[in-house]
Amino acid sequence: MRVARVQAQAKINLMLQIFPMLDGRGYHQLKTVFHRIDLADEIVVRAGGSARSLECTGPEMPASGLGKTEDNLAFRAAAEFSRRAGWPQGFSIEVTKHIPVGGGLGGGSADAGGVLRALNAIAPNPLAAAELLSVASGLGSDVPFLTGESLQAVGSGRGTQLNHDVAVIPPNREMLIVKPAFSIGTADAYRWLDEHRERHGWVPDMPPGTESFNDFQPVIEQRFPQIKTIRERLLARGARLALLAGSGSCVFGLFRDTPPTSLDLDFDARLIPTRLSSKVVQVEVLE
Ligand code: C5P
Repeated sequence: MRVARVQAQAKINLMLQIFPMLDGRGYHQLKTVFHRIDLADEIVVRAGGSARSLECTGPEMPASGLGKTEDNLAFRAAAEFSRRAGWPQGFSIEVTKHIPVGGGLGGGSADAGGVLRALNAIAPNPLAAAELLSVASGLGSDVPFLTGESLQAVGSGRGTQLNHDVAVIPPNREMLIVKPAFSIGTADAYRWLDEHRERHGWVPDMPPGTESFNDFQPVIEQRFPQIKTIRERLLARGARLALLAGSGSCVFGLFRDTPPTSLDLDFDARLIPTRLSSKVVQVEVLE
C-alpha cells in the first residue's frame, strides 16, 4: 500500500472574462487569472489492492451529500490516472471538505487536482507533466491549474491553456470569503450570461480604469441581489477589492490587514477568513 496526503488548495479568479461559446463544443472561451488560496480540502489517497472507494466528510460536506461516487471528480481523477498509468488497480480516497460546494472556488476541481498530484507522487512510473495535465483537462476547465505546481497562472481557451509567465501579485493578501446560503451551478451561470447577452447585447462589464472584474458578476447580481450587498459591505469594511468568486455563489474580499469578523448582513451567510497563498502546498508521501 502506498499512501499520500495533500492539501488541495482552492482557487479564485482575480479577473474572469468570458467570450462566446467555442463552436458546438459546449464550452466558452475565456481569459482568467487563477490564484491559489490557503483554504483547502484535505485528501488522503491510498493506492493498492483491487477495491476502489471514496469517502467525503468534513465541515463543508453538504447535508444532501455529493452525488454518486463514480461521478465525483476526485474518484474520476483516480480512475483516469489508473487507466493512463496502468496503476493502481485499487485505491481509497478520503476527502475532508473545507471548501464550500457550489461556491465558485473550484472545490471539486481542487480535489481532482489533489488526487492526481498525490497519485503521481507515489506512482512507480509517474506520468510526464504534459500527460498529467491532459488527464486534468479531460476532467474540467479548472483542473489543469489545480493539478499544476503554480501559485498563479493566466488561463485561456476553455480555461485549460495555462501561461505561467504573467504575475499579478495583489499587495493585499488577507482574504474574507463570504458564502451565502445558496449555491450556483457553473453551467447555469454560463447559460444566464448567454441569455443576458442575447437580450441586451454585449455590454462591456469593465468600466475604464478597473483593474479587476468578473463577467459573471452583473448577471449573477441581477438574480441574487445578496451578492451585491455582500460586495458593498466588504468594500465598506475596508476591502481593497471585492469580487464574485468564479461563477459564484461566494464573494471574496481582499484586505490589507485582518478582515472583519462580522458584516451585519440581514440574511444567512458564512464568513470564511483565509489568505491568497504564498506557496503551493507539496504532497506528503506517508508510506
Ligand atoms: O469544465 P467544467 O466541468 O468546470 O464546466 C462545467 C460547465 O460549465 C460546462 O459543462 C459548461 O456548461 C460550462 N463551461 C463553459 N465554458 C467553459 C467552462 C465551463 O461553458 N470555459
